[in-house]
Amino acid sequence: MSEVVLEDVVKHYGTSVAVAHMSLRIADGELVALLGPSGCGKTTTLRMIGGFVDTTSGRITVGGRDITGLPPNRRNMGFVFQNYALFPHMTVAQNVAFGLEMRGLNKTDTARKVRESLARVRLAQYADRFPKQLSGGQQQRVALARALVIEPDVLLLDEPLSNLDASLRQEMKIEIRQLQQTLGLTTVFVTHDQDEAMSTADRMVLMNSGFVEQVGPPDQVYGQPRSAFAASFLGIPNLLAGKLSADHRSFAMDAGPVFRMAGQSPVAGETLLALRPEVIMISPEAPPEDANHLTGRVEIMTYHGAAVEYQVRTDAGPMLTARAIAPGLGGPALLSNTTPVWLHWSPSAGVIVSKH
Ligand SMILES: Nc1ncnc2c1ncn2[C@@H]1O[C@H](COP(=O)(O)OP(=O)(O)O)[C@@H](O)[C@H]1O
Ligand SMILES: [Mg+2]
Repeated sequence: MSEVVLEDVVKHYGTSVAVAHMSLRIADGELVALLGPSGCGKTTTLRMIGGFVDTTSGRITVGGRDITGLPPNRRNMGFVFQNYALFPHMTVAQNVAFGLEMRGLNKTDTARKVRESLARVRLAQYADRFPKQLSGGQQQRVALARALVIEPDVLLLDEPLSNLDASLRQEMKIEIRQLQQTLGLTTVFVTHDQDEAMSTADRMVLMNSGFVEQVGPPDQVYGQPRSAFAASFLGIPNLLAGKLSADHRSFAMDAGPVFRMAGQSPVAGETLLALRPEVIMISPEAPPEDANHLTGRVEIMTYHGAAVEYQVRTDAGPMLTARAIAPGLGGPALLSNTTPVWLHWSPSAGVIVSKH
């Protein structure tokens, strides 16, 4: 069993705190994505799990065994870096064989495992090439084969897709997820890209300045961000300040308007109402009387192919972004700026998040 547990792990660099009191349990066979903006402590956390960086305090266990003080080569973990980090003077096969030779495995078994490992990442024909003779995507698959060939207990991936172009990234993302599931490998995947995290992970760990902001399955974190930080990071530009009533049935904007709410929220009182651009309907006509709404004027329209995004200056004050389906795909006719518009949404469309 390769359950990874971080217990109150802290990392200081001098007086600056890179990781603050991180506690996390990664189940055997689970893929957890560490997600957050640059500098929030993702790489440091991953390197502490891998043993490349010492912990300032706290404990890390794998399968119940304390590994906090162990050097990297005694942790049996596979590591893939953003920049591939292949040995340029070694062939693909030699790169993949390296870890096995370090472990003193005999030549026959090494050759067999290297073959199997390269076949697994569809690079069997490239064994004798040098890294510079491969594309970025192929090099990253070599790095993956090298990490997997040692049959690691834990796979650690640090922004493995960042140097690849969009279509390759999509392909590699699926490939990594499939390999991880086939092998049942406990995996930690570091990324700053929410789509990458959402489409690969069993659970996402959203980090902010060395702290864990929110943990949960992707649909839960995406659907129910808990804080203003989480909401903004997950792409919700619309945050209205106000107060949720004690019965959670209404939200009074500080600027005046009151909206109906449905469902329960973990936070009440002074909060923010988060509205995804997709849940806000925009129309030149008034919505039904009882709909939650704000009036305003379109200031900026941006075209996104399948969608059109409107930035609307509301008469209540805040700028709101609404996203509509493009006219060519069945959406409403384009609205010009200066048009007075109604923005409206259903009581269950908003998410209440804490201000901090
Ligand atoms: N070797 C180091 N020495 C000093 N500060 C560091 C070092 N490595 C990382 N940091 C700092 O620790 C914080 C977290 O960095 P890092 O874990 O690399 O973040 P991320 O991977 O999320 O971008 C940053 O403020 C960074 O500047
Ligand atoms: Mg990093």
